[in-house]
Amino acid sequence: MRPRILVIGATGTIGSHLCNRLHADRADFKALVRNAGKAGPMNEKGIKTVAGDLDAKESLLEAMDGIDKLFLLSVTSPDIPRLQGNAVDAALKKGVRHIVKISARGADSAAHFNIARFHGQAEKIIRESGIPFTFLRPHSFMQNLFFDAKTIREQNAIYSSLGTGRIPMVDARDIAEVAFTALTQEGHEDKSYYLTGPQAISYEDIAEKLSIGLDRKIKVLPITLQEEYNQSVKAGLPIWLAEDMKIVNGDYSEGKGSDLSPDVEKVTGRKAIDIGQFIADHIGRFK
Ligand SMILES: NC(=O)c1ccc[n+]([C@@H]2O[C@H](COP(=O)([O-])OP(=O)(O)OC[C@H]3O[C@@H](n4cnc5c(N)ncnc54)[C@H](OP(=O)(O)O)[C@@H]3O)[C@@H](O)[C@H]2O)c1
Repeated sequence: MRPRILVIGATGTIGSHLCNRLHADRADFKALVRNAGKAGPMNEKGIKTVAGDLDAKESLLEAMDGIDKLFLLSVTSPDIPRLQGNAVDAALKKGVRHIVKISARGADSAAHFNIARFHGQAEKIIRESGIPFTFLRPHSFMQNLFFDAKTIREQNAIYSSLGTGRIPMVDARDIAEVAFTALTQEGHEDKSYYLTGPQAISYEDIAEKLSIGLDRKIKVLPITLQEEYNQSVKAGLPIWLAEDMKIVNGDYSEGKGSDLSPDVEKVTGRKAIDIGQFIADHIGRFK
């Protein structure tokens, strides 16, 4: 029998691709939505929604009624262990058989930066619950480049603190495809997948691809980790997250984030999307 699936994080980047994929496959699933205004467009496409919030335990119990498999995602925040812990409590009470969780590269409850630590703590809660799990630990999303769209459009420039550091960014569409496979096929229980794109790339490589796609020169303007930190805090980023960026981008600039993984292809059976394809698919965002 096909599993009944609940998707938490359905309105976000990965979750919306996942819902479209599940819908196209005619899977038996519901999307948990906390903002009623966002449910309408999904319902119009034929996607079933259920109201709920990771911060409202009662709503999770209702949403998980009759559910076999849970896709679990929440935003980067110190609340990840608490909010995802609420979902695990409800999953235990409702007999959910499998949790597919979006985690992060290097997730570990003793990691040297916050994001990996918060995800590591949530992974630990899931492991200790005894519910079979699949942890998807992606590298930086290619979609993060949308944050650079303004300076690309207005200054023909990307600001980067990575220097010659290379990282194998991954397309969120591939993360969604791995999640889809783990939710709809057998054999992914109690596994962790590290998800990367097919090559480690530098910001110079990205600028080169953008220059070709846009038919104008895009340059990389180097900034120091401290300048990046100051600008991020001034723009309103929480201090803990700005500190994380300093640590992580510092690692990347020293070549410590370039390790590749075959897991996207191993799980989905098709090659991971490369940066050229990502830029071609989204060139309008950078024009
Ligand atoms: N960006 C990266 O490079 C990167 C790398 C590795 C790992 N990650 C991890 O990936 C995750 C983010 O994925 P994403 O970019 O696809 O997410 P996203 O686009 O930010 O979407 C977040 C989703 O979570 C929902 N949500 C937030 N708080 C909720 C709550 N209290 N109850 C129910 N739903 C809630 C949001 O709903 P609303 O629409 O109502 O807000 C939205 O659907 C994070 O855990 C992050 O740490 C990111």
